Amino acid sequence: MSTRQSTAGAFIALERDPRIEELLGRMTLAEKIGQMSQVESPGQPLPEDFLQALRAGRIGAVLNEVDVEAVNELQRIAVQESRLGIPLLVGRDVIHGFRTIFPIPLGQAASWNPELVRNAARVAAAEAATAGINWTFAPMLDVTRDPRWGRIAESLGEDPCLAGRLGAAMVEGFQGDDLAGPAALAACAKHFAGYGACESGRDYNTTNIPESELRNVHLRPFRAALDSGARTVMTSFSDLNGIPASANEFLLRRVLREEWAFDGFVVSDWASIGELRIHGLTASDRESALAAAAAGVNMEMASTTYRDHLAGLVEAGMLDEVTIDDLVMAILQVKFDLGLFQRPSRRPGKLPSPACEEHLSAAREAALQSAVLLKNDKSVLPLAAEAIERVAVIGPLADAPYEQLGTWVFDGDPALSVTPLAAIRERLGDERVSRVQAMETSRSRSRARFEAAKRAVESADVAILFIGEESILSGEAHSRADIGLPGNQAQLVRELRTTGKPVVAVVLAGRPLTLGDIVDDVDAILYAWHPGTMAGPAIADLLFGSESPSGKLPVTFPRMVGQVPIYYAQKNTGRPPAPDRIVHIDDIDALAPQTSLGMTAFHLDAGFEPLWPFGYGLSYTTFEYADLELSAALMTGNEPLTVAVTVTNTGRRQGTEVVQLYLRDLVGSLTRPVRELKGFRRVPLEPGQSQRVEFRLTPADLAFHGRDMRLAAEPGDFHVWVGGDSGATLGAAFRFEETD
Ligand code: BGC
Repeated sequence: MSTRQSTAGAFIALERDPRIEELLGRMTLAEKIGQMSQVESPGQPLPEDFLQALRAGRIGAVLNEVDVEAVNELQRIAVQESRLGIPLLVGRDVIHGFRTIFPIPLGQAASWNPELVRNAARVAAAEAATAGINWTFAPMLDVTRDPRWGRIAESLGEDPCLAGRLGAAMVEGFQGDDLAGPAALAACAKHFAGYGACESGRDYNTTNIPESELRNVHLRPFRAALDSGARTVMTSFSDLNGIPASANEFLLRRVLREEWAFDGFVVSDWASIGELRIHGLTASDRESALAAAAAGVNMEMASTTYRDHLAGLVEAGMLDEVTIDDLVMAILQVKFDLGLFQRPSRRPGKLPSPACEEHLSAAREAALQSAVLLKNDKSVLPLAAEAIERVAVIGPLADAPYEQLGTWVFDGDPALSVTPLAAIRERLGDERVSRVQAMETSRSRSRARFEAAKRAVESADVAILFIGEESILSGEAHSRADIGLPGNQAQLVRELRTTGKPVVAVVLAGRPLTLGDIVDDVDAILYAWHPGTMAGPAIADLLFGSESPSGKLPVTFPRMVGQVPIYYAQKNTGRPPAPDRIVHIDDIDALAPQTSLGMTAFHLDAGFEPLWPFGYGLSYTTFEYADLELSAALMTGNEPLTVAVTVTNTGRRQGTEVVQLYLRDLVGSLTRPVRELKGFRRVPLEPGQSQRVEFRLTPADLAFHGRDMRLAAEPGDFHVWVGGDSGATLGAAFRFEETD
């Protein structure tokens, strides 16, 4: 154990492996700075300057090399030809699969199933490890309440509790029980922090987040991921309350190191230290390097301010070498923990082959549990295959092997994709499937093929319409201001409506789309996100009822974009809206007096309710909740309180319900959200079967960062609800009192 004072003035207690202290003692300043530099792999053959830098120990990590032979060669040079033989970290964005692609993270979040998410990450890690990768830049834990932001696709939704539980599970899946195991990757909790609050959902835009909201919302999933052992953290590109995250001492020193005692390392985002100057925080790269190192960024990705300026800053006495030592030791520790010093190279033969049967079936299960049934009028779904003569499969996304994979699929193989069209043909036989694409892409404006699509629907029993957005329309730097269906898809829906045939819409998208203008023109909506390699079989299972949908929304769906940000954990305000005090713009009398419209918090043209609330999702069966009971009306001290409820499958099919528990703290030192998710459980039930489901609440579940920013449960009255979405009505009240 050593205690050191850093340039930032904070005392950091470090417990480091003696091997690291010993190694550090042999390192030159240039070699230390090398460990702090991550460089994109230039590919083979290696250019001479790269080779020299590697031999000189001036590169500590690479990214974006996925050829295992090339990676092993890089490791060989680093280990055998550099003076100290320190192996490399090899990073890659393994976000929702490697070769086998799972649903986008937002889709996985709709499963509300930590076990499934853990397994998806385990599979992704095992596949990526075959390429020599030892570090993934995931999970992405940015809470976002803005579907305009393209990166919502990579997120785990709007809620810190759900994102935290699933993010923690992802970390466990990537890292496994033993980080030094052959199929483990070091995880990276990103982007620290606040990136999801970028103004107007425009990527990279500034964020202004009060400290209470930062702590109570945005930081919580990070804390959960670090508690489950995430070894690295990535800074966010964005500027938080005037200080870009990559130079933000409050985030990186105070919260991360001092309060949370994080002992892994922080990597910048791509060139985000170089961008400090562009933000206008610093006047030069030299100042940027100083600001980032002093704030606690251990490793610089892509830009070279560390490589170019840290040594000069130390020599000029502007940066203490002790600060450099602290930053380097954390990196070396992760390399030791990954077992890289014993086994820098990977032998893929020892790992399951990418896209093996087991991995494909895990991806199918994930796609199945991710889909959310949003509408199902007159139980049009499931389709009875034996009673149907012909289906018409229409739309741009029914047979788009690349698009169904979603964003961040550098290593995914579209040739492995099973498309919905292929799966429907497989199930019904080619002769019972009419196929008209109708639009070349989701963005097409041409209506030339609409007539053909109508004719196909007219001669079929049902239209299955695959609409939404291609993968390029979400993800990094792919934000949209209008989140309706792109192109002429809404017109296509309306055209098909005129056939009088049932229309089932399957939506593939990387974000919630505003479907308010087509919702009445379709009979059913299955929201499949970008479901990945096995989209087809999973969707066919759901459409034809081999399985019942069980996904629930991890994010609120607005009716129109102007409602954004709209989320369930809103504040009550002093004038909460109520359904009977809403006036619609079309119903306002001429010369209506100013105060005649209800004077509450709603939009004249959209009311206040979303199209579908957080937590919502239908099944082919129905569930009822009854007999909610609390173990006590008073929670004291650290005594847990049990909330029990009976859930019954009241329909005629087997189904799985995601039982959700919400809490409200009625009075706080800071105003509290009207509801917050505190627990959830997937409960499979046979028709007629009931189960008593219990949740345990402790004061930790009640705690929040109050007016003094301390994390504590405040005494007072609470309300709890349990149900199938965030609008749950079955509830009870209790009091919390502290013991002396
Ligand atoms: C993204 C990160 C990603 C990094 C490396 C950046 O543009 O913001 O999420 O991990 O690139 O590819």
